[in-house]
Amino acid sequence: MQKILVTGGTGYIGSHTVVELQNAGFEVIIIDNLSNSSAEVADGIARITGKRPIFEKLDCCDYEGLKNLFAKHAGISAVIHFAASKAVGESVQKPLLYYRNNLVSLVNLLELMPKFGVENFVFSSSCTVYGQPDELPVTEQAPRKPAESPYGNTKQICEDIVNDTVKSGSNIKGILLRYFNPIGAHPSAEIGELPLGVPQNLIPFVTQTAAGIRPKLSVFGSDYNTPDGSCVRDYINVVDLAKAHVIAVKRLVENKNKKPVEVFNLGTGRGLSVLEIVKTFEKVTGVKLNYEVVGSRAGDIEKVWANPDFANKELGWKAAETIEDTLASAWKWQQKIS
Ligand code: UD1
Repeated sequence: MQKILVTGGTGYIGSHTVVELQNAGFEVIIIDNLSNSSAEVADGIARITGKRPIFEKLDCCDYEGLKNLFAKHAGISAVIHFAASKAVGESVQKPLLYYRNNLVSLVNLLELMPKFGVENFVFSSSCTVYGQPDELPVTEQAPRKPAESPYGNTKQICEDIVNDTVKSGSNIKGILLRYFNPIGAHPSAEIGELPLGVPQNLIPFVTQTAAGIRPKLSVFGSDYNTPDGSCVRDYINVVDLAKAHVIAVKRLVENKNKKPVEVFNLGTGRGLSVLEIVKTFEKVTGVKLNYEVVGSRAGDIEKVWANPDFANKELGWKAAETIEDTLASAWKWQQKIS
């Protein structure tokens, strides 16, 4: 059985990916420093798949710890690197935390992989690298815009680090996956998004408001140049997203990649406004949301959605879940945890 190292594997996207990897017959080793997740996530994964992934509490910034990990688990076929700090607002307050966590962890992995004969690398990137694109839907060829936040900057720099490392002749092949807005939860409600404290992202705030944990949702911005004045995003089901990682890993392991570093947009190709999300959530769940349209949030992009054609064609992957089922899964998960 091929072994896959998943950093950040108890996190939101990581845990859903571990499920899909195990379902596809891979053996998974999770490392996570548990800064934004809990070891109990492995229980949920085990309940879904009937198999418990190996879990080691480890920070990817710990070079010696990581080296020991690679030595202990010889024969890793690929690394999927999710572990990173990801809150845009916090990154403005604590830029050095973001630069240290996100850059040092990547450098450590890329230094150690060749030493242990590990060639295949899948990296969690983000549509944030496009900033506000000039043309929509955005393709992988669109120029990257100067980052709006230290978080966004780390994603750009990390992409550059992977590219430069591969160009330098390192024995590494990479796939950079640019996620749009991942939402929803596993349909079993055994795993999902677990924000610590007040959620910054839209869907956890919506579900917590519906559950009565938050009194009111603020819809940020009313006069954007969009059909209803609120921001537009490409919301992608987290299980669909997780499945793309399995395909990316297989592509690398089976040497089917066409370039040493490939870049794919992972989105649905459909843009939805914040108000459309609110309305659809109300329709699907029957719960009325208390919300108020307020001023815009600093640093927000007006509208962005993916052209996913390249991923559809090259990976044979397509976002399949409807927004209705996806929002229903987020609500089912919220009801389970609240
Ligand atoms: C941003 C990044 C994304 C990154 C993510 C990490 C862009 C385009 N996207 O997502 O790449 O991975 O941060 O956190 O840079 N909203 C409300 N009320 C709320 C919360 C959000 O109206 O309480 C609105 C926002 O203004 C936005 C939409 O909902 O229009 C989605 O927001 P959010 O879930 O925070 O994700 P992004 O900011 O799009």
